[in-house]
Amino acid sequence: MPVQFIKINQEENRLMSTSPEETAAAVPSAPSSTVSSVRPATPARSPVINLGLDVGTMNLVCARANALGKIEVSSLRNVFLTVDDVNIEGMDLSKISHARIDEGVFILSHDAYNFANIFGHRLSRSMQKGMISPEDINATDILAVMIRELLAVEPGARPGKCVYSVPGDPVNSKSNVLYHRNILGRIIDEIGFEAEPLNEATAIIYAECADSDFSGISISFGAGLTNVAVVYKSIPVLEFALSRGGDWIDDNVALSIGTIPNRVVAIKEKEFHLDRYDTGRKKERKVREALGFYYKNLIQFVVKSCLQELDRRDLDLGFPNRIPLIISGGTSLAGGFLDYIRAQVEESSWPLELSEVRYAGDPLSCVAQGCLIKALKQ
Ligand SMILES: Nc1ncnc2c1ncn2[C@@H]1O[C@H](COP(=O)(O)OP(=O)(O)OP(=O)(O)O)[C@@H](O)[C@H]1O
Ligand SMILES: [Mg+2]
Repeated sequence: MPVQFIKINQEENRLMSTSPEETAAAVPSAPSSTVSSVRPATPARSPVINLGLDVGTMNLVCARANALGKIEVSSLRNVFLTVDDVNIEGMDLSKISHARIDEGVFILSHDAYNFANIFGHRLSRSMQKGMISPEDINATDILAVMIRELLAVEPGARPGKCVYSVPGDPVNSKSNVLYHRNILGRIIDEIGFEAEPLNEATAIIYAECADSDFSGISISFGAGLTNVAVVYKSIPVLEFALSRGGDWIDDNVALSIGTIPNRVVAIKEKEFHLDRYDTGRKKERKVREALGFYYKNLIQFVVKSCLQELDRRDLDLGFPNRIPLIISGGTSLAGGFLDYIRAQVEESSWPLELSEVRYAGDPLSCVAQGCLIKALKQ
């Protein structure tokens, strides 16, 4: 299958700049403290590059350690448009991130997001509900193009291990993660890395819970899914997903107000607060009000489902110490989110003693960082 890749403009697509002074975080030690240095003992001219990759429904995030031992993060929006959709046949595509696959031309990532908003088109996705989309025959090829761009290693460096995130099996849908996990493994292997999957929510514990001996509960509120893990001393005790996330909110708000989901996303990601909807014109205020309703419903649903799953699995969760509950994922960034989920957790009786309910250090990149920590574990 001919795939011609035209370089994606990553500068526009970064969640964070890669300036070490501004954004790089020190690489925490790995579970069971087996990493003494982030620089492998290989010949100086051919360093082995180990990476963490978060493969998300909306964002692809890569974490790598720089020469100073700091974590650098880069990302791409995991969206695309077919050129036919936006009717720009004949346009000069040289400055636009795109790929040619078979007979088709696809605008990728941030450029696709901008075009979709300008022309009022619905974005296409290579993934849905945390896994490769069954709806578009080109989804896997488009995803492979974007991952190849994100994982690029400098000339002279050798690809080493790439630990990539996978969701848990959703408990409230029939889908399972097996096909998705294997396709991603194949894509990453073909780029030249040794691919290893890691549950998305467990990765958050690796990135965030060194202080509690890598024990904790994590909830990742993503675009397609909400992932949950309970981890004790770096061993996953429970991992599952719920097939609701930011997309569920966007779709329901769009249906309620009569607009397209990406217009809802643009408002949601711009200073939205769960309890404030007095900003903007009438339609924007209505979108903000509806967002508040669906956000609160999602949080209530997730807390209730966590309690049900903890109860249903009949695990002996008598941990010797109280453990933290870590909240992460782009959907959790809405104003008022942490206060609302804290209140919901406090109102319900958890079978585990919690020491705190707090945000991950960087909710948009901590999965990739946790994957990197695992990749660096020799
Ligand atoms: N500032 C913000 N306020 C509210 N929502 C936000 C904000 N920034 C991003 N989001 C939403 O967060 C979601 C993306 O989050 P994230 O990158 O964690 O998901 P993902 O990893 O791509 O998806 P998944 O884990 O479900 O496969 C989207 O629904 C996006 O609209
Ligand atoms: Mg995610």
